[in-house]
Amino acid sequence: MSSFADTPAMLGGTPVRSTDYPAWPVWDDDERTRLNAVLEAGGWWQGNGTVAATFARNFAEYHGARYGLAMTNGTHTLEAALIACDIGEGDEVIVPAMTFVASASAVFAVNATPVLVDIDPETLCLDVTAADAAVTPRTRAVVVVHVAGCAADLDALTELCARRGLRLIEDCAHAHGTFWRGRGVGSWGDFGSFSMQRSKLMTAGEGGVLICQDEQLADAAWAYADCGRVKGEWFYHHATMGSNLRMTEWQGAVLQAQLDRFPEQNRRRNRNAVALNAALQEIPGIRPQRRDPRMDSQGNYCFVFHYEPDQFAGLPLRAFERALAAEGIPMGVSYPSLTDLAVFRSERFAPRLRHRLTEAGYATLHLPRAEAAAATTVWLQHRLLLGTVEDAVDVARAVEKLHVHASALREAMP
Ligand SMILES: Cc1ncc(COP(=O)(O)O)c(C=O)c1O
Repeated sequence: MSSFADTPAMLGGTPVRSTDYPAWPVWDDDERTRLNAVLEAGGWWQGNGTVAATFARNFAEYHGARYGLAMTNGTHTLEAALIACDIGEGDEVIVPAMTFVASASAVFAVNATPVLVDIDPETLCLDVTAADAAVTPRTRAVVVVHVAGCAADLDALTELCARRGLRLIEDCAHAHGTFWRGRGVGSWGDFGSFSMQRSKLMTAGEGGVLICQDEQLADAAWAYADCGRVKGEWFYHHATMGSNLRMTEWQGAVLQAQLDRFPEQNRRRNRNAVALNAALQEIPGIRPQRRDPRMDSQGNYCFVFHYEPDQFAGLPLRAFERALAAEGIPMGVSYPSLTDLAVFRSERFAPRLRHRLTEAGYATLHLPRAEAAAATTVWLQHRLLLGTVEDAVDVARAVEKLHVHASALREAMP
């Protein structure tokens, strides 16, 4: 173990980590066996198989929801949720500015307008008071994002949506295994939308699951995902407008194996994240993303902390990140605020949406807390939480080392 007095690796010293963290994705013979079973059964697609559908039901049950729908990815699940809520032309949907573009582009895809709203600077999730202030007579829904697995304030959000007559769609792409007062995220709103893309907490390379408590809403979402087919009707009936968003049986096979392994991984990640939080809290200029006490567990898609350059001799964030990477810490990167994306700033990127871009005033919109968070937060890959407590706390040892040597680093790194 390195002591904090060691020279930073960036200045020629020994890195805190001499071995890498566990690789992601994790898989073993369970995936192989389940994939072979799909191969040999010959069904191969969800239309005449049970693997993907059973996985989605099990996944929903784990999060406390009645229905689970296995789809292509976590962008399409959002679109299906919006369609099922009958949201479209002329409607506004509130979306937090600190998120992946899909939370907003799904709203564009159903011809509605995303209204970008600022975040709580400590959790990085939607600021519920700002969301309340953004409601207009055209607002139909809120898409809330549980950023890096940290649950947004679901008590305040469910109250807001009930009071204002809005649908609540939880974008849980980062939050598999986040539990809020005893129940999984995604089961609190009208829909919970999960991504199983490669970097996520369980994965089949691509994939998505939509969870839901209401049978009618679930049926409407599945009708859209299954070419407009309605339950119980003839195969070529096509009663509503739909598309094909069905997950394959291959993905279902891999994801069932991932789900079986997930609860233990989630416990390990939580134990290690809590220990890392405590260790980082001791370092001046570092403030971990706030863990709301109403959250029983956090599915840490990333581990996020706030960084104050002033406490590190003015070392800029990007230089700090490079120095931390040199210590052997697996780095991610923050999203930019949606207000900084070209798609919202320039008509060239979205000619079809021109009138909505102008109407919503994106070109001049600034959301200071989301923009500041993008410039002051450090995002680390979740695989660093998959080892021992000591492995996780190595991150704090590395940060402490950089703190001690901040002036030298500042001089060496322009
Ligand atoms: C917050 C959020 N929403 C939605 C998505 C879209 O998921 P997918 O990549 O499976 O389409 C992502 C993917 O990174 C995400 O981070």
